[in-house]
Amino acid sequence: MDLVNRVPSGIEGLDELTEGGFPRGKTIVISGVPGSGKTTFCIEFLYKGVLDYGENGVYITLEESPESVIKNMMNLGMDLKSLTSKGKLLLVDANPLRGETMLTVSGVHTGFIEFKAYGLSELIRQKVREINAKRVAIDGLTALLMHYKDDFERRLEIVRLLIGISGLDCTTLITTEHRTYELRKYFLMEHFLADGVIFLDMFQSGGGFVRGIQIQKIRGIKHDFDFHLYRITDKGIVVFPKEKIFAPSKEEV
Ligand SMILES: Nc1ncnc2c1ncn2[C@@H]1O[C@H](COP(=O)(O)OP(=O)(O)OP(=O)(O)O)[C@@H](O)[C@H]1O
Ligand SMILES: [Mg+2]
Repeated sequence: MDLVNRVPSGIEGLDELTEGGFPRGKTIVISGVPGSGKTTFCIEFLYKGVLDYGENGVYITLEESPESVIKNMMNLGMDLKSLTSKGKLLLVDANPLRGETMLTVSGVHTGFIEFKAYGLSELIRQKVREINAKRVAIDGLTALLMHYKDDFERRLEIVRLLIGISGLDCTTLITTEHRTYELRKYFLMEHFLADGVIFLDMFQSGGGFVRGIQIQKIRGIKHDFDFHLYRITDKGIVVFPKEKIFAPSKEEV
């Protein structure tokens, strides 16, 4: 395994689709429908990063509270407190609407009025330095962008955030929301601006739904493009790299 240039995702089965993981130091957007496992993906990336690869991690939540994340992830077998207590993982609440105390974090304003990419990337830089982190996850870009009605401003904010975290020598995941279940996508600005994009979707199949994961792009590496089946289980996300969704049936080939 090339651990110098590649960063294993920590998601079972996924790295087979990228020939060994994410390119080191790049920013990958995890774009999913509601409940598709975006938060779980981020936490597994960080948790396995510490336990299996000795890389400290910073998790920035813009939506769900850290307490809720800790509780939910415990149900998937991940004891986050055991890592935070050792200073290997930081869970940072950057939700601008939660609590007065969050208006100022280590001298940086993250409150509603000042809640901008500049302040956020400054906060991330501080946290990364604090524990010498190599992995970062920013969960909930949509919460940051909702402050801007104007496309130009939104694009500027994304670029400011990407520039703000570049040069940190961290491999970074950023989650975002997309809203349709079907294959025809409305691409978002962050899909174009990031180094990589992974889609987490749901598709109607028979009477129910199946979950599908697709790597839309990762600049600089060869990767699979197909939709593959994935599941969320008691042990987290499992990708089935050999199981394609929408593969032509044998009769069609
Ligand atoms: N033990 C489990 N077994 C199977 N599926 C589970 C289990 N625990 C959680 N899930 C599934 O995982 C989903 C939540 O995952 P997660 O919070 O990571 O998604 P998300 O994309 O971040 O959601 P949101 O859009 O609310 O932020 C649940 O909606 C549920 O479908
Ligand atoms: Mg979530």
